Amino acid sequence: MKVISQPIDFCKKTTTAPRIIVPTMGALHKGHLELIHRARALAGKKGEVIVTIFVNPTQFNNPSDLEKYPRTLEKDLELCREQGADVVFTPAPDAIYYSDHSVNIIEGSLSNRLCGATRPGHFEGVCTVVLKLFNITRADIGVFGKKDFQQLAIIRRMVRDLNLAVQIEGVETVREPSGLALSSRNTRLTKAQHADAPRIRRALLAARKLCSNGELTVEKLISSAREIIDRSDESAQIDYLELLDSETLQPITKISRPALLATAVFYGNVRLIDNIELN
Ligand code: PAJ
Repeated sequence: MKVISQPIDFCKKTTTAPRIIVPTMGALHKGHLELIHRARALAGKKGEVIVTIFVNPTQFNNPSDLEKYPRTLEKDLELCREQGADVVFTPAPDAIYYSDHSVNIIEGSLSNRLCGATRPGHFEGVCTVVLKLFNITRADIGVFGKKDFQQLAIIRRMVRDLNLAVQIEGVETVREPSGLALSSRNTRLTKAQHADAPRIRRALLAARKLCSNGELTVEKLISSAREIIDRSDESAQIDYLELLDSETLQPITKISRPALLATAVFYGNVRLIDNIELN
């Protein structure tokens, strides 16, 4: 496995076998490993799996969040090796951004709600860095998790609208046995918060059950989920809880097409996100 830190070190592709990129910010857990595993399966023996580890400063709207972001490079490299990655790209910020960079990618519709509404500038940072990583690595396929459903939808839209020659693969959310979605932020929860947080998944499942029993009114589905989160013993605070069209991410009042129930919940200053598709 090669470890590269400069964009210039990427060689031109010489075969037609696919080059697959798994963009991450490191602090790898089983969710990330599932993405690398999928990439390896798609690449086959001849293709190339590139994992990128870059804590992208431009997508953090809160400087202390950026500072506190866990950095575990040695362990991450070991995990990438175990999963059969061919290359790990770990650039420093100045290898990615010129000090006077002035071009950014702005997605102007899907970014307006959910995490985009509460984290201004976040998806501009994500789109810009993901496009740069696609270009630097010259990837044919990009693998992303459905845990960040809005991010995945925005990247698909960027690929469509900018005619990028990259195929996007979405991977199901990997969870703890309790149902809590794996996240590098889970390590910042207290023991009691960690024990309480699986209610987020239970709340989303309860709404889905109600929906499959025939309840199609968005307001009722949302309040069934809200009730479960509000019963938290650890003062969980809902940042958002929204039911949207899963393609356009625009609000709906009744479920008539595939929909997405998505939430962000604060435990103290730790913000957890999760979502469920209602079809
Ligand atoms: P990061 O939070 O490190 O996540 C990297 C990838 O792992 C994303 O595609 C995310 O959706 C996926 N992922 C995280 N937790 C997961 C889980 N429990 N199950 C399945 N997949 C999971 O997302 C980012 O980094 C950044 O925004 C990035 C795309 C790298 C751009 O900087």
